[in-house]
Amino acid sequence: MAGANREAEERNAEAADRTSAVVLTSKLRKEFESLVAVDDVDLKIRRGLLYGMIGPNGSGKTTLIKMLVGLLRPTGGKALILGERIPIAENISRIGYMPQEMAIYTDLTVHENLELFAELYSMSKESFETREKGLLKIIDLADRRDSLVSHLSGGMRHRASLACALIHDPEVVFLDEPTVGVDPELRVGFWKYFADLRARGKTVIMTTHYMDEALRCDVVGMMRLGRLIGEGAPKDLMERTATTDLESAFMTMARKVDA
Ligand SMILES: Nc1ncnc2c1ncn2[C@@H]1O[C@H](COP(=O)(O)OP(=O)(O)OP(=O)(O)O)[C@@H](O)[C@H]1O
Ligand SMILES: [Mg+2]
Repeated sequence: MAGANREAEERNAEAADRTSAVVLTSKLRKEFESLVAVDDVDLKIRRGLLYGMIGPNGSGKTTLIKMLVGLLRPTGGKALILGERIPIAENISRIGYMPQEMAIYTDLTVHENLELFAELYSMSKESFETREKGLLKIIDLADRRDSLVSHLSGGMRHRASLACALIHDPEVVFLDEPTVGVDPELRVGFWKYFADLRARGKTVIMTTHYMDEALRCDVVGMMRLGRLIGEGAPKDLMERTATTDLESAFMTMARKVDA
């Protein structure tokens, strides 16, 4: 009887996870031949959070995100995004993704790129026009709307790429190093916007190498050698490791794993 109750409880907990978690993975794994890029990662990201992923170069952050958005096929484990198994054709318009590498067309204008993404997500002309206006203001490119992307600076291209990921107002957005190469003033603006997204119940999952940014996240996931070695609110991570900054918290976690 107790066994049956436990099973029912586990089933209920699983159903609750499916509803509240935007991302749910179990032993998610990616091997590139002999290299294990993502090593059995269990992840549960609740709706409405700003989730920051940190970790050294090559620790598997991009590979993990690429699997979550359906661009890379896992070699093991399971992942659910918005309750659906990946690949996520049914959910595509509810998800936004800004890759680490440039993924917008340099021979098109900023406006044409945004239009292309809007078409991909079957947006109506009216909602596209309103969203475009708002986003161009946030990325501070309203006056460069009709410039070819190839004529923009590196940071400007990066900003245009962020706008493309957000044009359809997705419920969950994966941003792979969204603020790299963005000047400090605009970075402040981006963060205001991320907070705004969160306030509207959206989920923002981002990678960053900037610890001041990680500190602003609700939850930080620490990746090392393909593994998620620690996860929690920045304050809790520091408390748990008796440290006062996230770099030290990371090092302490890493030492614990190695011990
Ligand atoms: N297509 C691929 N083929 C072979 N190896 C790959 C491939 N993509 C990534 N890797 C390897 O997987 C590991 C994880 O790479 P990944 O890009 O996920 O790291 P990352 O944490 O995003 O690093 P960074 O902070 O530099 O962006 C690295 O060792 C990388 O060389
Ligand atoms: Mg990366």
